[in-house]
Amino acid sequence: MSKLTILGQNRLSGTVAASGAKNAALPILAATILMEGEITLTNVPHLMDVLTMIRMLKALGLRAEYHHPNSVKIWNQKKVRHIAPYELVTAMRASFFVAGPILAKTGLAKVPLPGGCTIGTRPIDIHLKGFKQLGAQCHIEHGFVELQAKKLVGTRIHLDFPSVGATENIMMAGCLAEGETLIENCAQEPEITDLGDFLNLSGAQISGHGTATIHIKGVTSLKGVTHSVVPDRIEAGTLMIAGAITGGDVTVTHVNAEHLSPVIDKMREAGIEVEILSLDTVRVNNCKGYSAVNFDTLPFPGFPTDMQAQMMALLILAKGTSVIKETIFENRFMHATELMRMGANIHLDSQFAFINGVDKISGAEVKITDLRAGAALILAGLAAEGSTTVYGLKHLRRGYDNLPEKLRSLGAHIVEYPD
Ligand code: EPZ
Repeated sequence: MSKLTILGQNRLSGTVAASGAKNAALPILAATILMEGEITLTNVPHLMDVLTMIRMLKALGLRAEYHHPNSVKIWNQKKVRHIAPYELVTAMRASFFVAGPILAKTGLAKVPLPGGCTIGTRPIDIHLKGFKQLGAQCHIEHGFVELQAKKLVGTRIHLDFPSVGATENIMMAGCLAEGETLIENCAQEPEITDLGDFLNLSGAQISGHGTATIHIKGVTSLKGVTHSVVPDRIEAGTLMIAGAITGGDVTVTHVNAEHLSPVIDKMREAGIEVEILSLDTVRVNNCKGYSAVNFDTLPFPGFPTDMQAQMMALLILAKGTSVIKETIFENRFMHATELMRMGANIHLDSQFAFINGVDKISGAEVKITDLRAGAALILAGLAAEGSTTVYGLKHLRRGYDNLPEKLRSLGAHIVEYPD
C-alpha cells in the first residue's frame, strides 16, 4: 500500500500556491456535456478525480485532453451518448453530475446509482425529485437510474436540503429546459457560483447562483468557451492549518480570501494570527499557540464540513476543550480514532466530537479512510513528536494536487513511497 512518512515538529514557513478547486472542476467538466464546440478550462487541479471525470466525458463521446497539468481542452459534438459507465460512477460518486447534463442534452440518461462512501450513504433523492419536477420520467432498476423526457419544462423547485450536488445537477438541467426555472433553498457554495458563471459564459441565462434562490431562463443551446476554475478553498484552508499546527509562518497565494471567511474567522477566534494580504493571498503566523474553539459544520457560508477533519487535527493541540458538531454527514469522524492513536484526547458522541487539548502527540502508523481524514492525519504528523507513517495515499491523490510536495516546499520532512 502506498505510504508517506513525516518527521514531525518542523516549523513550516514560506509561500505556497493553492490549486484550482476540485469541487468546481468536477461539475464544470460535467457541464461541458451541455455545450457544442471547444471548451478550454484552466487552473484545473491535477487530480485522480479530474482524470476520472475526463474518462467519463470520453466514454460519453466527447473529446477531452490535458494540455498541460492544469488545463483541459474538450471538444463536444452534437451527439452525446446517454449511458454513463458503471465502473466510472462507482469510482467517483461525483460522476453523477453528468445525469442532469445528459438528460438536458439528449432527453435520455442512464446513470448507475452512485454508491455511498465512508462518510455517509450519500443519497440522490433531491437530485431525482428536481429532475422529475422538470418533467423527466425516472425509473430505477438494476442499479441504474433511467431519466427520460421529450423536453424539460421550467418550474419552481424547492430543495428539501441545500444539497451542493443537487443544486448543481438541477441548475445544469434547467439551462436547456423550456421556460423559466426557479430553484429555492439552494446550496450557496462558491463552487456553485463558479459553475453558474461558466454556464452563463457559454450562453446560459442564470441569476442568483451562489445565493439560496437561483433563477434560470432556458435557452436552446450553449457554446464552448474558455474558463479559469475558482481557487480551492479547502486545499487553501488545509495549507493554512499546516502553518498554524507547526507554529509556522505560511503564506498561501492564488486563493479567494472571501471563500475562506469561515475558516479564517475560526482560526482567528482560536488566537491564530491570520492576515489577508490581498484578495488572493492570506498569511498564517502562529508563534504563540492557540486556544480551543467550538463550531458546527454547516452549508456555506457556514463552516465547511470539508474542513472539519483538518480543524480537528489543529484542535487536538489547543489549550482547552473544543466541541465540533458535524451536521452534514452522518459518519465523518473516522479520522478521530486514528488521531487518538497519536495521543489525541477525543470523545465522540453521535454528531459531536469533544476534543480535550493535549500538550503533545506522538508519531504513529495511521491509515487514511477518506480524503479529508487523510489531510488531517498528515497535519497531525507535521506536529507530532517523531515519525508518522500514513498509509492509503490513493484517497489523498483523488482530491489534493500534490499536497506532500507543497508541504515539502514549506520545509516539511515528508517522504513518499508510491505503491
Ligand atoms: C459536495 O458533495 C462535495 N463534493 C463534498 O466534498 C462536500 O462535502 C459536500 O458537497 C458538502 O459541502 C463535490 O462537490 C464533488 P451534498 P455532495 O449533496 O454534493 C444529503 C470532498 O471532500 N443529501 O451537499 O454529495 C447528503 O446525504 C467532498 O471534497 C441527500 O439527503 O454533498 C449529505 O448528508 C466530500 N439527498 C448532505 O445532503 C440528496 O439528494 C450534503 O450533501 C443529496 C444530498
